[in-house]
Amino acid sequence: MLRGKNILIGITGGIAAYKICELIRMFKRENANVRVVCTKNALNFVTELTLQNLSQNDVGVEEFDVKNYKPQHISYADEADIMVIAPATANTISKIASGICDNLLTSIACAFRKPILVAPAMNCNMWENPVIKENLEKLSTICCKILEPENGFLACGYEGKGRLCSLDKIFKETSAILLNHQKNKKKYIITAGGTIEDIDPVRYISNYSSGKMGIALADEAYFQGNDAVLITTVDVKRPYKIVKVKSAQDMKLAVEKEFDTADFVIMAAAVADYRVKNKAEQKLKKTNDDELTLTLVKNPDILKELCNNKTHQIIAGFCAESENLLENAAKKIKEKGCDYLIANDISRQDIGFSSEYNEVTILKRNGNRKTLERAPKSEIARLILKEINE
Ligand code: CTP
Repeated sequence: MLRGKNILIGITGGIAAYKICELIRMFKRENANVRVVCTKNALNFVTELTLQNLSQNDVGVEEFDVKNYKPQHISYADEADIMVIAPATANTISKIASGICDNLLTSIACAFRKPILVAPAMNCNMWENPVIKENLEKLSTICCKILEPENGFLACGYEGKGRLCSLDKIFKETSAILLNHQKNKKKYIITAGGTIEDIDPVRYISNYSSGKMGIALADEAYFQGNDAVLITTVDVKRPYKIVKVKSAQDMKLAVEKEFDTADFVIMAAAVADYRVKNKAEQKLKKTNDDELTLTLVKNPDILKELCNNKTHQIIAGFCAESENLLENAAKKIKEKGCDYLIANDISRQDIGFSSEYNEVTILKRNGNRKTLERAPKSEIARLILKEINE
């Protein structure tokens, strides 16, 4: 399955390093070319000879090799189609996030311009440390996809989140990225976040959308080897194209600019239905009246207009409801004319708006429905893309 694919495995100094011997075998069984690079600390847990035998390749540890005229970190980076850092310790995550290149593994990561999968493993208190969280967030701004650790009994004796995710998951994610890269690239336009409708230069009307679902969809589209364009009201840095917008009108223009060449459009943004009529040029002053009336005018319905003007694009909308979810969604897919409508219940605290999780029902134009059970937004994103590609 993976013949001709070059996988670079980066092993850092955590007890889960021993598990990676089996991961190498899993890739070798599928005929991938595997090369291992590890930190000196990783060799406290697993020997160079073991890794060399399993991968059937030299193992990179030292950065400066007198036998090799080519800088090793660049040649390793050039050769590989994907880099898998597992286990990734808090130390290595933080170094890569800060651009530190003090060993072969971190230097390669800094030079790597293809997808990197990062599978952290550490003590649960280290995992919860906000500095580590911030560094992981920074890694998402380059080509890194984080495979979150699992809950369970940790080698240090603690019970909590920090165990390396399953080898099966690492294997599947790596293979999915490598195999999808073989297929034709598709262009995805994805919108995210709540639009911001100005009242005056200092005040605005908006909503609680965090943009997380839209960002997860764009990340997934990108990691599957597609061209992703994220049109967003929230600040986010990613290795693919980001267009920052504010109001519904800005968003409409930005989407239209990309529309003709798009294969898929997913409107995950919470677009304001109305904007303030005659936005004040100067800050509004308080008056002696107890009431202030703002007049609102209707915004364009971006999704509906796209559906009316589509040629070949597959278009999906989102449907945020606080009551009668499926009834309203069934009405909405007809009104908008989109191919798919992804309905989510915003009245629940454990999913939706600011949560890392979601649970959605995908409605199709022919009336079919599919519910995706509660899962991290990255997993929901993967399943949504799978569904709309069928
Ligand atoms: N949408 C849009 N333009 C708007 C309003 C919504 O493109 N002016 C899109 C959203 O991005 C979403 C879908 O339409 O994909 C449904 O949004 P939602 O807020 O659930 O529905 P509305 O059409 O706004 O209807 P209502 O607020 O009455 O539920």
